[in-house]
Amino acid sequence: MTVERTFSIIKPDATKRNLTGAINAVIEKSGLRIIGQKRVQLSEGQAEGFYAIHKERPFFRDLVTFMISGPVVVQVLEGDNAVAKYRDVMGATNPANAAPGTIRKEFAESIEANSVHGSDSQENAAREIEFFFTDQEIVG
Ligand code: TYD
Repeated sequence: MTVERTFSIIKPDATKRNLTGAINAVIEKSGLRIIGQKRVQLSEGQAEGFYAIHKERPFFRDLVTFMISGPVVVQVLEGDNAVAKYRDVMGATNPANAAPGTIRKEFAESIEANSVHGSDSQENAAREIEFFFTDQEIVG
């Protein structure tokens, strides 16, 4: 087991429905620790930069509009195999395909409004954490 960090976003559909605490309870119950957290309003430029990898995809513009439609909670999570573990805790991108007990199965509204983001590799986790957090804001 390797202690890793991953990056999470609680998305606007979830903050609007007052689900931050409920989602954090699922995260903490999984054994992951929330070692950095803040509530922010993304700018259009930040959302575009964050999802730049998807900029040629047909859903890109709608995704950016959704991500700036309300506050998000950005988080740093730490634990054994945190990247893969949080992907399991989140569930499939489309909540219709997500396993019972996962955050997306329990809370997501649609493939777009799917309540959470989690890094898909250690490399992306490091890049995404750096995008939003200073070292002083992460306390393990
Ligand atoms: P992706 O990186 O494929 O999924 P994940 O969030 O599970 O890593 O896609 C990023 C986000 O883009 C996804 O969480 C929701 C949005 N999205 C759509 O709106 N429509 C789609 O068809 C896909 C594949 C993703």
